[in-house]
Amino acid sequence: MPKVFVTRKVAQAGIDKLSGAGYEVEINPQDKVLSKEELIYYLREGKYDAVFCLLTDKIDKEVFEAAGPQCKIFGNMAVGFDNIDVPSAKEKKIMVTNTPGVLTDTVAEHTFALILSIARRISEGDRFARAGKYHGWEPMMLLGADISKKTLGIVGLGRIGSRVAHHAVKGFEMNVLYYDVKRNEEFEKESGVDSAGSPQAKFCATVEEVLKNADFVSIHVPLMPETQHLINAERLKMMKKTAYLVNTSRGPIVDEKALAEALKAGVIRGAAIDVFEHEPAIEPELLKLENVIMTPHIASATEETRAKMAELAADNIIAALSGQKPPNLLI
Ligand code: GLV
Repeated sequence: MPKVFVTRKVAQAGIDKLSGAGYEVEINPQDKVLSKEELIYYLREGKYDAVFCLLTDKIDKEVFEAAGPQCKIFGNMAVGFDNIDVPSAKEKKIMVTNTPGVLTDTVAEHTFALILSIARRISEGDRFARAGKYHGWEPMMLLGADISKKTLGIVGLGRIGSRVAHHAVKGFEMNVLYYDVKRNEEFEKESGVDSAGSPQAKFCATVEEVLKNADFVSIHVPLMPETQHLINAERLKMMKKTAYLVNTSRGPIVDEKALAEALKAGVIRGAAIDVFEHEPAIEPELLKLENVIMTPHIASATEETRAKMAELAADNIIAALSGQKPPNLLI
């Protein structure tokens, strides 16, 4: 009977799929992230045919070596896969998969929750009310910024970026400026034109063009050597003083210290981030600021979506162990 190691307890729907396929499923008995040494310890006898892993697991050559030649696949339950050394997997002839698509709407919704929350000072208002500071309506209290008809900058118009842009255009009549390695004319056509007849969504040939002109900038690129610190002190200075930065992709894309400095100095008006440069650590300076909203990497965290992600990771493993091509094969 094939054996699958699951690096941490996940939604039961995924486990049920694996058991239903006739596999012996062993789940990390401790409800915590395994260190690399611990993961190697669990995998060391090469007894597993597959590993169901998470974005918090750092999977490199040594981990693949511990898993041994019996192991066919590492199925990552995340759309991002920067936690996995994909070239080493290729070298070891181990398949790697991710879970795209099923979380697109959920992450786009969270991105909009952050945009609305930072612009309308929702967390700040909540803290204010809980602290007993509300003594009656005031004309100048907690003034935020409008969203409708403003300009949203999208860096990375992939599945999630284009969904966020869609909500912006259709829901809030925003104009969208987007940067991506390739232009998406179909998306531009679908976005239509504004009341003045200008296109709602416009391609920018550089990130800088987006940063200079957007009222909100939302990051949707994967973490790669080329995107590490894509948003740094210099680029933050290019943004409007009144602009907000939103990040639901990966923390290291933004230089977190530079962001804290920029927020403190009023270089930009605010930021809303779901991901951090050194997770789970958070830059201490950010914690002191009112003009930042932080959520703990929960953009895909709904019951429905986490179940779908677990099922899709299981489907990939089942396909690989049945000699078929997994639907989300990365190599
Ligand atoms: C979450 O961050 C994911 O990559 O799925």
